[in-house]
Amino acid sequence: MSKKFLAIALTAALSCTALLAGCGSTTDNNTADSTDPVSEKATLTMATNAEFPPYEYMESNEVVGIDVDIAQAICDKLDMELVIDNIAFDSIIPAVQSGKADVGVAGMTITEDRLQSIDFTDTYTTATQVIIVNAEGSSVASVDDLAGKTIGVQLGTTGDIYASDVEGATVEQYQKGADAVQALKQNKIDCVIIDSEPAKAFVAANEGLTILPDPFEEEEYAICISKDNTELKDKINAALAELKADGTIDSIVEKYIGSDAE
Ligand code: ARG
Repeated sequence: MSKKFLAIALTAALSCTALLAGCGSTTDNNTADSTDPVSEKATLTMATNAEFPPYEYMESNEVVGIDVDIAQAICDKLDMELVIDNIAFDSIIPAVQSGKADVGVAGMTITEDRLQSIDFTDTYTTATQVIIVNAEGSSVASVDDLAGKTIGVQLGTTGDIYASDVEGATVEQYQKGADAVQALKQNKIDCVIIDSEPAKAFVAANEGLTILPDPFEEEEYAICISKDNTELKDKINAALAELKADGTIDSIVEKYIGSDAE
């Protein structure tokens, strides 16, 4: 009797498993390896670093910004569910390489060096690097004055790379761009090298700072993705092309940068 019961239970368990597996495979029409059997949608986990307004920043405990809206628009096209993983900027590429995250969306610049370890989608916007200084009494008036100066940067960013190439300069690396800006206000460093839009946001939020007029280094932002994930990359590129063509990307950028402009 107990044997019979066990047999029934086993059969039930087996058919459940088969059913679940069946369910899984019918919904598994996306390339992302993480499928959520409850929502029946594949998830797209985006690693980011929400210290970079207006691309990604915190607003009452929520990560918001241009990159979040773009990632959401891509997910809408691909019928995926967006999951945001907010981590240190220099942990994003390792997270994507190890598969902890599917993509990195973080105002990330395509560089030759990064292309050694990671792939990028098509670009979705351009940016420049700029120099922030104290409005009064700065010894830095242009890129040519950087030699021998103390330069603040966000750790692992392209600003960090440029600063490291400046002759005789001391580079102070901060976890957050905002921390570099605070150090500048306290005269602990001579300037900050950072991307143009976050620079505008930081200067708007802090009195007594200014951005030097000559930007240098034009950059292209793209979504980083593992080199093994070409199928997902192609889908994202197709979604991006549609979002560019129908004006969605432009209107997302305008929504955030329009309110930032002086
Ligand atoms: N564009 C720069 C880079 O790729 C800075 C990006 C920083 N992004 C961030 N979310 N903190 O290195």
